[in-house]
Amino acid sequence: MPILLAKQHCVLREFSVNFQKRSFMSSSSRSALPPVRLRRALISDVPALFEVEHTSFDGDQLSARQLRHWVDAPNGILLLAHSGAAVLGFCLVFSRADSPAARLYSIAISRAARGQGLGKKLLRRAEALAREQGSASMRLEVAASNHVAIGLYQKLGYHIFGHKPGYYEDGQDGIRMQKAL
Ligand SMILES: CC(C)(COP(=O)(O)OP(=O)(O)OC[C@H]1O[C@@H](n2cnc3c(N)ncnc32)[C@H](O)[C@@H]1OP(=O)(O)O)[C@@H](O)C(=O)NCCC(=O)NCCS
Repeated sequence: MPILLAKQHCVLREFSVNFQKRSFMSSSSRSALPPVRLRRALISDVPALFEVEHTSFDGDQLSARQLRHWVDAPNGILLLAHSGAAVLGFCLVFSRADSPAARLYSIAISRAARGQGLGKKLLRRAEALAREQGSASMRLEVAASNHVAIGLYQKLGYHIFGHKPGYYEDGQDGIRMQKAL
């Protein structure tokens, strides 16, 4: 888990996403749903982010306190996807002054919204923001058994550069991946 660092006010930014909603709504309601957008998370989003995090991971979960920290942390990018008031997923990236590499700490999409390109869009936007903030590369760890996430990362150009045996709370091995930004 990350060490909690100093806070600063973060700027709300909203990004429009061309997102084709499919499985999480019926065709009759399709036109009524607000478009999916990406924006920086606010403190008021923490309960919804916590819900996505805790329904996505069995262990190594971010706490509400950690999420609150990363909303305002100057070295963090906590980005979420929402459709109107519904939070559909988020990702958390942070950087350190002593490293040119940003780190993707968490990415999770609510179950009903998976498989529709949202993970890719969130990660691409987080990569762009990390690059704007001066990071030269992005690094991450992923469970060796998480083939869906590994597929997402490979699709976006990440490659494996290391292994961490027994890295996760449940004893699973971690794979280290990185990409130049
Ligand atoms: C991993 C996760 C974030 C992917 O988000 P997503 O929105 O479902 O992914 P996308 O729809 O953007 O798909 C991106 C790529 O992931 C892979 N992928 C997505 N769903 C997949 C599935 N069911 N089976 C196999 N590969 C899949 C594909 O490579 C896909 O690219 P493609 O659509 O061009 O084939 C999401 O499944 C999730 O929240 N999982 C639980 C939390 C988690 O494991 N996070 C990663 C921790 S390291």
